[in-house]
This record gives sequence, structure tokens and C-alpha cells, in this order.
Amino acid sequence: MHLGETLIFGAGGMLGRALRAEFPAARAFARSEADLSSPGVLEKLIVPGVSLVLNAAADTRVDLAETDPAHRETNAAAVGRLARLCAAAGAMLVHVSTDYVFDGTATEPYLEDHPVDPVNAYGAGKLEGERQVVASGARFLIVRTSWVFGVGGANFPEAILRQVALGRTELRVVSDQRGRPTYAADLAHAIRRLVDVGATGIVHFANSGETTWFGLAAELVRAASHPEVAVKPCTSDEFPRPAKRPAYSVLDTSLYERLTGEPPPPWQAALARYLAIR
Ligand SMILES: NC(=O)c1ccc[n+]([C@@H]2O[C@H](COP(=O)([O-])OP(=O)(O)OC[C@H]3O[C@@H](n4cnc5c(N)ncnc54)[C@H](OP(=O)(O)O)[C@@H]3O)[C@@H](O)[C@H]2O)c1
Repeated sequence: MHLGETLIFGAGGMLGRALRAEFPAARAFARSEADLSSPGVLEKLIVPGVSLVLNAAADTRVDLAETDPAHRETNAAAVGRLARLCAAAGAMLVHVSTDYVFDGTATEPYLEDHPVDPVNAYGAGKLEGERQVVASGARFLIVRTSWVFGVGGANFPEAILRQVALGRTELRVVSDQRGRPTYAADLAHAIRRLVDVGATGIVHFANSGETTWFGLAAELVRAASHPEVAVKPCTSDEFPRPAKRPAYSVLDTSLYERLTGEPPPPWQAALARYLAIR
């Protein structure tokens, strides 16, 4: 039960916008209103009387993170400051992390206590953020999620639809990375459910079902009614990017289901709901 104020940081991003809808009474701050890395900003806002802080802010530029260490400021150092301020104010912190803390060598879905070993700099920075939260002494919930799409941010379905809008009729998409797509609106709902039941610690949430980026693109093109576009599979080696991705980052969400009594909605249905409102 949170009788004090609720704050949302990163409220302009995909998850942040969805959290605003789930927590309508919260004070929500987009980056322009509260930059986590600006000195003094958090100190002014996280004060006694605040009982819940939802952190949806992150530097999500996975490829840029390989060469530019600036992501660590938002994803690790600022998270530590945020968490220590929550501890001092007696506020609960809900922080969001990523499937990219895992190395991708597993063959079955990742449980919350599976050993972490990120394969890219973004994952390492997010893991450091998790550790800062745990060490802060704040009451916390870390929700790890994966392959997020939604209104208000750069995401894979939008990148594919941009190519389609440009008139591309053949798209090659990697089929050797497996994960669970997640609709930001469903993630925000899951966070509210977890807060409502008083969950703490680390909990995984993603839409149900698993696929590859190729599978996601094929379903997207089908659901968006573009029969003229052929989606063809390729390997990650054929489409090199600066940051390595885990080959398998399927999150196990059975803890979420036990805590809330709700199974996550299937990703295909979530994608259809997103397409209907974007
Ligand atoms: N997107 C994914 O596929 C994915 C996968 C797994 C986990 N996650 C995690 O899910 C959470 C939500 O991310 P998202 O998917 O909603 O990504 P997003 O759409 O990129 O949103 C992140 C938001 O944080 C803001 N931000 C960046 N640096 C900031 C700073 N220093 N201070 C305040 N705000 C800052 C960004 O603002 P600007 O755009 O103005 O920089 C953006 O509005 C993050 O913790 C992310 O690591 C995301």
C-alpha cells in the first residue's frame, strides 16, 4: 500500500508513457523535466512523503553503448543515486532491467536467479544498475523485461514498418536470436499488479510465447496486412552490428504468474493491440 506520492522518471519513453496511464495519480517526469544525470534534480524530488518511485528512464541505445560509455551514467551511476535517495526517503523503488544481463547460452527460459553474464556493454551497464539498487538498502522491485515495443520510443516493429513504408518488398531479418517480445502497455500493467501485491526482489516479465526477430517481423507484416512484403530469415553474421546480442534470452515469467495470478498476454495479441492504436 502506497499512501504517499508516486513519481515516474523517464515518462516520455515507451514504458514511461504506459506507466502514466497505469498510475494516473503519479507525478511523471520526462527527461526534459527531470534528467537523472543532472546534479541536484533527484535530491529535490525524492524526499520524505514520496512512497513509490518508478524508474523507466534508461539509455537504451544498445549499439552506441559499445563505443560511448555515457550510457553508464544513466543506467548505473544515476540509478545508484536514485536508489540511495529512495532508501533515505523511505520510498520503494521499482526499477526496470533487461534480458541482456544474460549471456544467451541457456537452452531453457531464464529464471530470476540464473547467473548473469552480459555479452555487451549495455547489458553490463544495466547489470551494474541492478547491483546499485540491491546495495542501496532501499525496498526495491527490479522487473527484467525483453524486446519492448510501444508508443513513444525506437522499437523493432517501427523500424520494420518504416522499411515497408519506404516501399521495400523483401526484408531479411535475423532468425538466430530467440526472445519474448513485450508490449510496453502490458509491462506497465504488470508493474502495477506487482506493486499491488507487494512484490519485491527481481521478477521477470515479458509477453507469453517466444520467437525470433524474423518471426516477429513476419507476424508484424502479416498483422499489418502487407502481403506484398516477403520476410526472409538470415543469420546475425550476415547482419553484423556493433553490439553482440545474446542468442537466446527467453525470460521465464512463472514467478510473475505465481505472484499476480495472471499469465502474461501472448505477444501476437499484444502486437495486434499495438498496431490498432499506433
Ligand atoms: N526497449 C527495449 O527493448 C528494452 C528491453 C529490455 C529492457 N528495457 C528496459 O526497459 C526500460 C524502459 O525502456 P523503454 O523500452 O521504455 O525505452 P525508451 O523508449 O528508450 O525510454 C527510455 C526513456 O528514458 C529517457 N532517458 C534517457 N536518459 C535519461 C536521463 N538521463 N534522465 C531521464 N530520462 C532519461 C529517454 O529520453 P530520451 O529519449 O529523450 O533520451 C526515454 O524517454 C529501461 O530500463 C530499459 O533498459 C528495454
